[in-house]
Amino acid sequence: MSRVRRVWVSRLLLSLWLPILAAAVSARELDRESRLVIAPGYDTVKTQCTVCHSAKLIIQNRADRNGWLQMIRWMQLSQGLWPLGPSEGVILDYLEANYAPTASGRRPPLPNHQMPAT
Ligand code: HEC
Repeated sequence: MSRVRRVWVSRLLLSLWLPILAAAVSARELDRESRLVIAPGYDTVKTQCTVCHSAKLIIQNRADRNGWLQMIRWMQLSQGLWPLGPSEGVILDYLEANYAPTASGRRPPLPNHQMPAT
């Protein structure tokens, strides 16, 4: 192969792979079935937390570790969720890492003194 041609081929290969690589790095991989983020602890969450309801309830929610713990305790007290034993820490690690509160994109509400008079 001529040098020019080799350079051209390697450029072509690069331009094909870069967008794919970039997408792979930026996107969080989701489980096809549950749509849960695939990350450490995900299989435990999928096994323990999609028995009674779909994973949508988890995916739609955001909370810090304590918030997730409160939801688990609430389900244990009133919805028949079993004691999670050593899995509890794994599940909380996963939820805290992947479903933490995100900064809101919305403008915060006006303070009272800037609200129109009623
Ligand atoms: C024994 C059954 C059961 C299991 C297992 C279970 N849940 Fe639930 N969960 C419920 C019920 C019942 C509700 C209320 C559903 C509704 O309101 O429609 C609920 C609601 C929720 C909600 C919504 C709470 C809210 O305030 O809106 C979240 C989040 C949730 N579960 C997460 C989890 C996680 C995480 C696990 C795994 C540790 C889990 N669930 C396992 C029964 C269960």
